[in-house]
Amino acid sequence: MSFNEVFAGYVTQTEAAIDRYLPLASTRPEKLHTAMRYAMQGGGKRLRPVLVLAAKDLFNTKAQDGLAAAVAVECVHTYSLIHDDLPCMDNDDLRRGRATVHRAFDEATALLAGDALLTHAFILLSHHYPAAIALNLVRELSSASGSEKLIGGQVEDLLAEKRKDVSKADLEFIHLNKTAAMIECSLVLGAIIAEASHEETEKIRHAGRHLGLAFQIIDDILDVTSDNATLGKTVGKDAKAGKTTFVSMHGLEKSKLLAEASSEAAIAGFKSLYKGSDFFTDLTKSLSQRIT
Ligand code: IPE
Ligand code: IPE
Ligand code: MG
Ligand code: MG
Ligand code: MG
Repeated sequence: MSFNEVFAGYVTQTEAAIDRYLPLASTRPEKLHTAMRYAMQGGGKRLRPVLVLAAKDLFNTKAQDGLAAAVAVECVHTYSLIHDDLPCMDNDDLRRGRATVHRAFDEATALLAGDALLTHAFILLSHHYPAAIALNLVRELSSASGSEKLIGGQVEDLLAEKRKDVSKADLEFIHLNKTAAMIECSLVLGAIIAEASHEETEKIRHAGRHLGLAFQIIDDILDVTSDNATLGKTVGKDAKAGKTTFVSMHGLEKSKLLAEASSEAAIAGFKSLYKGSDFFTDLTKSLSQRIT
């Protein structure tokens, strides 16, 4: 099977699992559950769930089902997008090609749907895995989404708006935490489910950090070079909001080189696993192709 077919297969499984693992829209309160489903079922690349499933398969195709963890990661990611789009944060109207949750519903519902998705992730992990594995999954996902990682990165992203003295190290801190932490965590969850060794888990974590940094540099570039229809979100918002991004700090051409360097480091990391896999090399290259 080609890389695209394997990727599409993981996406299909993820989307069926999202439908299965979220409360029905008819569950009371219907407004909340409808909003949660609206956010989760509105498209998106499904990168993080694919990373969970592919990492699990890399280490052990016969291990426990990775789908509950894949959906859990997508729940946390989607919650972070709902909140990222709120007027008090990036104030966006468009997400995944549709109105953002606070536009389609209202701000309170968007806030609460985000809260509920975050909580739901931990319901899934704690209900679908044996205790020892569940504990490790909860440890990883809670730290990746906590105040020193995802939320810390989001806070510093906002603090860096319109500031003139943001250093390269500050910007790397933002990207590594607001974005790379969840990408790294997705791979580690797959490794935990497959009961990979400590050494293998740390190797894939390391590769994920580089992949995550590349991913956010590419996101910064696309905000300048792409269009709303292709991305399904509003472009040009970073400059308008006075965000510090790789493009504002390094310029477009240097940012492309930096994204390429991080992608190469990710590929080297994936290859350092003794089961080095073409899937992760192809995945990293396909993400880089978004800016070429
Ligand atoms: C958007 O993530 C937020 C960032 C971390 C850049 P994605 O680009 O993965 O968004 P979806 O899930 O495909 O909508
Ligand atoms: C968001 O970064 C990262 C998270 C949601 C944690 P951005 O603000 O750049 O994401 P987009 O461009 O709105 O998707
Ligand atoms: Mg943001
Ligand atoms: Mg944003
Ligand atoms: Mg962005």
